[in-house]
Amino acid sequence: MKKISLILSVVFFMVLGSLVTPSCDTNQGQIIPYVRVDFYLLLYADLADLGIGSSKVISGEGVNGIILYRESDFGFYAYDRTCTLWPEHDEAVVEDSTFFGVFECPDCGSTYLLMNGAEPNSGPARYPLVEYHASIQGDVLHIYN
Ligand code: FES
Repeated sequence: MKKISLILSVVFFMVLGSLVTPSCDTNQGQIIPYVRVDFYLLLYADLADLGIGSSKVISGEGVNGIILYRESDFGFYAYDRTCTLWPEHDEAVVEDSTFFGVFECPDCGSTYLLMNGAEPNSGPARYPLVEYHASIQGDVLHIYN
């Protein structure tokens, strides 16, 4: 009887170990690490230079910085820069030098199109960049999760 419970314990911990061991395959394209995001930008000061259709990178926020995309006068979208193909690589996408509104992972080459909800445009990534809430309150933009 002791032998059976010992075998069951070993099997249990092997299964448990395979579930919690970090591996690229287990997390591929699903999530990025959670960090608290909660900050404000002034519409007519911090964002005065951000024209409609353009974007800017906000460093020091999110997992690897945040891309803020202005779709209209009062329409903003905030995306984490972390590539969603291999979040554990902790790689930040960078703005493509030839295509406007496109960000590319320097590691896998996946590209994300901001005007399309930061969905993957090309390359192996299957999930869009993680989006944070961006809402206007008076003349302030609140970005949060
Ligand atoms: S982050 Fe390494 S694959 Fe895009």
